[in-house]
Amino acid sequence: MSKVKIITTEDGSHSLYHEELKETYHSFHGALQESKHVFIEKGIRFWRNKEGLPDFLKVFEVGMGTGLNALLTAQLAKENNISIEYTTLEPFPLENELISQLNYPDQSDDPKLKEIFKRIHQVAWEEPIELYPYFQLTKHRLKLEDYKIGKEQFDVLFFDAFAPNKQAELWELSALKKCYSLLKRGGVFTTYSAKGQLKRDLKSLGFEVETLPGPPGKKEMVRGVKQ
Ligand SMILES: C[S@@+](CC[C@H](N)C(=O)[O-])C[C@H]1O[C@@H](n2cnc3c(N)ncnc32)[C@H](O)[C@@H]1O
Repeated sequence: MSKVKIITTEDGSHSLYHEELKETYHSFHGALQESKHVFIEKGIRFWRNKEGLPDFLKVFEVGMGTGLNALLTAQLAKENNISIEYTTLEPFPLENELISQLNYPDQSDDPKLKEIFKRIHQVAWEEPIELYPYFQLTKHRLKLEDYKIGKEQFDVLFFDAFAPNKQAELWELSALKKCYSLLKRGGVFTTYSAKGQLKRDLKSLGFEVETLPGPPGKKEMVRGVKQ
């Protein structure tokens, strides 16, 4: 992919602007706020509460990008003394120099965060790596379209592709169907978009769909639970 540059969003956290797509990697109203709300609170925390607070779960992410969602997930695992296996797809990895300038590790007093963030980006692709006893990471340098579904299924799926008007193919029924197959029964699909077509498609696949309040600056978001 072409050039990306660092921007500062309204909550002070960084994001990236993709010049060719004319699209940001996160909400301009706050990258950190958005990731925490859509993926951590409405995704992982919701699933854990629903399932009786299990101490192990498996997360799948479409679009690793800056690694912010992976970092927040590792942080949650550490703070709650639980163990998370995190699998993520990224066909267009970012340059190390760019990653090293992102201010995500500065959002907490935990000195370990910088090291975790660094390791998320440094570790090898295509193999499970135990970054910490509480966080195992598998990064695939692949498009969702090329990811082969095996037997492995996940509890929570972070759908963090570029917006439907920028990357329509990832919001088509065939892509969403793959997400459905990747989830266990009761598994949670969560995304920042609240498009009507997305909700209809998720329902048609067998998700119970909820429209939830979005993060600051965004009215709504969507969550689906696999029935
Ligand atoms: C909205 S940004 C992701 C934000 C990311 N989760 C973060 O916190 O930085 C979308 C990401 O999806 C990646 N992507 C693009 N095409 C993809 C595809 N076909 N399958 C999976 N990921 C894709 C992009 O390179 C980009 O990193």
